[in-house]
Amino acid sequence: MNNLDFPKKYYITTPIYYVSGKFHLGHSYTTVVADIFARYYRLLGSDVFYLTGTDEHGLKVQQAAEDEKKDTKEFLDSLVDYTKKVWKDLDISYDYFIRTTDKEHKKTVQEIAQKMFEKGDIYKGSYKGYYCKGCESFFTDKDVSENKCPIGHEVTIEHEDAYFFKLSKYQDWLLKYIEDNPKFLSPESNKNEFVSFIKNGLEDLCISRHKEKVPWGIELPFDKEHTIYVWLDALFNYYSALGGSDSEKFKQYWPPDFQLMGRDISRFHAIYWPIFLKSIDVSLPKQEFAHGWWMSEGKKMSKSFGNVVYPEEYIEKFGSDIYRYYIVKEMPFGDEGQFSKKSFVERVNSDLVSSIGNLLSRVVTLAEKRNKENGFNFFKDSFAEEIESKIQIIHNHYKEYELSKAINEILQMSYALNKYVQDNKPWDLLKEDLEKFDQVMYVLLESIRILALELSPILTRKWTEIFSQLGLDESNLGHKRLAFTNTMEGKTIKKQGHLFEKIEIKE
Ligand code: MSP
Repeated sequence: MNNLDFPKKYYITTPIYYVSGKFHLGHSYTTVVADIFARYYRLLGSDVFYLTGTDEHGLKVQQAAEDEKKDTKEFLDSLVDYTKKVWKDLDISYDYFIRTTDKEHKKTVQEIAQKMFEKGDIYKGSYKGYYCKGCESFFTDKDVSENKCPIGHEVTIEHEDAYFFKLSKYQDWLLKYIEDNPKFLSPESNKNEFVSFIKNGLEDLCISRHKEKVPWGIELPFDKEHTIYVWLDALFNYYSALGGSDSEKFKQYWPPDFQLMGRDISRFHAIYWPIFLKSIDVSLPKQEFAHGWWMSEGKKMSKSFGNVVYPEEYIEKFGSDIYRYYIVKEMPFGDEGQFSKKSFVERVNSDLVSSIGNLLSRVVTLAEKRNKENGFNFFKDSFAEEIESKIQIIHNHYKEYELSKAINEILQMSYALNKYVQDNKPWDLLKEDLEKFDQVMYVLLESIRILALELSPILTRKWTEIFSQLGLDESNLGHKRLAFTNTMEGKTIKKQGHLFEKIEIKE
């Protein structure tokens, strides 16, 4: 018997996205990965809260709206509509969408800033240094070279009175916390980088801008001449989305179980975020994970190279399932990823068309040939046990956040099933040994049902097509069914068209 243990509640987040332009592959990756975990844990039975949203304050947004000669809020509303549409087309099953311009969020952030100020963690000083609009972040001499931030954006020199957060006060506490909670920062390489960064000494963090320079922000409650610098505002979305610490939702879901982000913004999550939470005495997220960076056709994605991948274009042509599958299969989770049209076609044709699509079509065609009204009787053999052990292996990978390994194992399941067909030659059995044919069919149909369930967090639409060909519907979902059961007994098989169409390359 498998042990598919799952948490009672599961709170998962993506970063909140800047909304100054179109979304590309990088943004969609973070959101799809979080969606897969959310869906997997829902399938198991966890009470899942999946949060995403938009980061709407700061200089970048303000200027983008000005460039388009639009009122900032109206400009943002139309971009949020666009964001929600992209997520809908990608079948993102978020439970809540937070905007940092939401009234409740602003109120919560002000309450938090007040609390930090009263505690003495925020003080007034004078800021002189670099500001990067691209990162909405301050940088010091160490980080800047040739007037560029570590990512390569132009920086400006700023000198103004501002408020600071005493990061340095929490430095030793944070190091100890990271040491005592080895899973807090992952993957390991990410953790090591931050441990040495913290050991080098944390400088206090500038958390405000002059209101006349950056009016599009949340006012500091204790000094209305200043607005809150975006990261203090942005990070607390994860907290305010639950309605603050007195709310029922907060009691139900806090702390986040898994917070996903790209490596470029993990510094803010690994250092500022835990310290901010500690300052207001709130428990920390259980695990943060920084995924790698996408390149496209061998280069950094950039409009000037013309290699930016926009999810809409792929969804329109191939459907969201194929896009979702490709991006999570192609990028080793936690490492860098390479997008290329060539590998897209190869991946889809080999994994989805040849292995999974063909398997289904071969098996349902054969099952229909027998044309039995009462379907097939339960039968279990050693191969069925192999399938059961794969369910456990996939689960263990999910639990360890080894997404690439989980997906590989699902693919292995389809290879093993194709081999089982090949080894048993059911087309011969149909002529020579009907009893054996029926047994082999049961094992195949039941295993394909399991495969469809395993695929359901990734192929959010196609799995229902597999189910309907197997004579099943959504009432056959649920974690108890993630085992070799008698579900397929007596089911009427209904062969339909191909699950996936082969992609032909036109020169
Ligand atoms: N608003 C901040 C996050 C605040 S969270 C409290 C932000 N937004 S963003 O829109 O610029 O980026 C959001 C996410 O997209 C990040 O996780 C980032 O790593 C990811 N990606 C953007 N481009 C990417 C690639 N080329 N490759 C992989 N992910 C990348 O940062």
